[in-house]
Amino acid sequence: MERRKVILDVDTGSDDSIAIITALLCPEAFEVLGITTVNGNRCVDYTTENTLRIVELMGMEDKVPVFRGCASTYVSIMLGRRPGYPRRDGSGPANNAAVHGDFIDQCPPSHHKEQRQNAVSWLVETLLAAEDDSITLIPIGPLTNIAHAVAIEPRIVPKVHEIMFMGGGWKIGNKSAVGEMNVWLDPEAAQVVLNAGFRKFTFVPLDATHEAYFNAADAARIRAIGTPVAEVVASLIEQRITGYSTWQKVAEENATPVHDPLCVVALLDPSVLKEVEHAHCEIDCGGGAAYGQTIFDIRNGRMDALAPNCYVALGADRKKYVDAIVNILARSNEQH
Ligand code: RIB
Ligand code: CA
Repeated sequence: MERRKVILDVDTGSDDSIAIITALLCPEAFEVLGITTVNGNRCVDYTTENTLRIVELMGMEDKVPVFRGCASTYVSIMLGRRPGYPRRDGSGPANNAAVHGDFIDQCPPSHHKEQRQNAVSWLVETLLAAEDDSITLIPIGPLTNIAHAVAIEPRIVPKVHEIMFMGGGWKIGNKSAVGEMNVWLDPEAAQVVLNAGFRKFTFVPLDATHEAYFNAADAARIRAIGTPVAEVVASLIEQRITGYSTWQKVAEENATPVHDPLCVVALLDPSVLKEVEHAHCEIDCGGGAAYGQTIFDIRNGRMDALAPNCYVALGADRKKYVDAIVNILARSNEQH
């Protein structure tokens, strides 16, 4: 497997934490150039602190720089004030609190700092300096940072090999009937990135992540690995199981989707994603009931569907996913 240069764009978060851990445990597959943070699950102050904690857990603070990103939506501060948008006072999406908490309490407060440079300017600088087609972006929070980077410097677009994005939903929403959190929090940013002309943009939406859920037995399997890293992941999954029991139905009782690491595993083994469609997607930015919906033009076999601008995975292989995460975490024996 060719080693990819990757940038994770995160709103850490319980599942972002597991995605970062997964990527950092696969150095033969991923050279993580840096991690950029964004407002999302919580305000960017918190998501940055959480990211620093996870990087320290992995002992990578000297190798993987963290850059603080956008604190508000791409288009409108007013839109960013609507109920449920994460704020600097720490308040955020109420239904998300139990799933993520404010901070990753499984890890101690960080003792190192993020870089002085802002995430957006670092993205522009790093991508501009890169060879064409050489960097993979893994955004697992709202697309605010990447939308700004593209707006400031569209010449970054050909530098990107592909974008593997956790977000969107075909038949499932989690912030509204049709809105998925990462898109709903900043739909205009998602629309900008989707239509910026990137070589390949893949949605890993809720339809895929809800098929690839983890249950209590899976968490126990992870705990049995017996390393501090595996213990953190097992505890995060259990926290999510408790959170989901009061938030959203999962296919099995005592189970939780673990959304974000599915993007990382999909880059290692694309067959973990199922029913991948090449489709046109529009994002509803209208402010009505469908606000933030990812409208994939795959209904009714229409011959006049618009030209595809993305791939979307409508399912996932739960067994492959869980086994992959367990096997990767077993490597924490070697390093941590
Ligand atoms: O809708 C799920 C997504 O929203 C995940 O990325 C989660 O971490 C939150 O950002
Ligand atoms: Ca996330």
